[in-house]
Amino acid sequence: EVVDCRGLHLMPGLIDPHVHLRDPGDPAVETIPTGTRAAVLGGLTAVFDMPNTAPPITDAARLDAKRAGLAGAAWCDVGLYVGATKSNIAALADLERQPNVCAIKVFAGSSTGDLLVEDDESLEAVMRSGRRRICYHSEDEYRLQARKPMFTTGMPHRNHMEWRDVETALLGTRRLMALARRTGRPAHILHVSTAEELDYLSDYRDIATCEVLLNHLTQTDEAYERLGGYAVMNPPIRDVRHLEAAWAAVRDGRVDCVGSDHAPHSREAKERPWPNTAAGLTGVQTIVPLMLDHVSAGRLSLPRLADLMGTGPARVYGALNKGRLAVGYDGDVTVVDMKRTRTIEDSWIVSPCGWTPFAGHRCTGWPMMTIIRGNVVMREDEVLGTPIGRPVAFADTGRG
Ligand code: DOR
Ligand code: ZN
Ligand code: ZN
Repeated sequence: EVVDCRGLHLMPGLIDPHVHLRDPGDPAVETIPTGTRAAVLGGLTAVFDMPNTAPPITDAARLDAKRAGLAGAAWCDVGLYVGATKSNIAALADLERQPNVCAIKVFAGSSTGDLLVEDDESLEAVMRSGRRRICYHSEDEYRLQARKPMFTTGMPHRNHMEWRDVETALLGTRRLMALARRTGRPAHILHVSTAEELDYLSDYRDIATCEVLLNHLTQTDEAYERLGGYAVMNPPIRDVRHLEAAWAAVRDGRVDCVGSDHAPHSREAKERPWPNTAAGLTGVQTIVPLMLDHVSAGRLSLPRLADLMGTGPARVYGALNKGRLAVGYDGDVTVVDMKRTRTIEDSWIVSPCGWTPFAGHRCTGWPMMTIIRGNVVMREDEVLGTPIGRPVAFADTGRG
């Protein structure tokens, strides 16, 4: 097939290393077929899928079933996280070496599902359980919760940000860095959301990599008034001081990956009054358009974006392609048009939940083609062929 790319830019196949595809669990909000279709429409060639499904991916049998379910169902390539629990710590060394596991994921702060590992003793045992870089949802609300009111006055959803405040985030990250130093285990801190953590992590670059979310680079606390429950996520969207710190860290190389934390919920769950509002926002279909818009606005360069969403995740997670520590070496390409402007709409979203917190956002720069192993799987908003997505291979898994 001849592909005309005149006037366009070719990027290495872009990866979203942080998505929750809810499969198995809740087909009314998302499945592997719908979430990976959203991914290729949005210009992604691979996603790494989180384990807090129902039931969660916490043992070899569920991991095998999940991997088997990708064949003929996934439109893009998929890496699989395995969740740590207080009862599977002894099995983690074996689980992290199973094929297609991008990392062990630890929820050290509470979130959707119940994969919480929050006490110091269990966290240390998890750190000592294996060798590969281990991924953390880092928040430590437990030490603070007792002395914090639930903020039942004022703008209800803004209370979410006050409740999961800077101290909660910083405490979590300081605790994990102390453990990483003591155990020598490399860590990856997911969705770092505060200026304080980014500053703190600067002294741990030898042992800790980190991710910043598209939302924390794009939205500030004005979103609570505008979007209500559709602005609620963990860690929360914060004020502009943190957004500026995140951009400074992206620009000076202290951020390794950018992810969406695509976490669909039903409209009913998002519209529940705080504090019962479900936390999590959709993003897998919109992260590339929005990052391209940030490129157009001069906030980062296209090569830096290729780093953050291509080579960054490959390096942090050890993603392999034909035995090389890289992606895009066998024809994974995202073709983008930096002159194209287009407005994101709810009607474009293919996740069954059917909403995006970015409806109405006009983007300059848009993904025009998604090419996986030389096959054009998306061209100008049309998904082509059959689902050819494969499980991603990783180094250090013994079977990469
Ligand atoms: O907002 C969030 N939603 N944060 C998480 O850590 C989990 C996610 C979800 O699965 O809903
Ligand atoms: Zn998280
Ligand atoms: Zn997440």
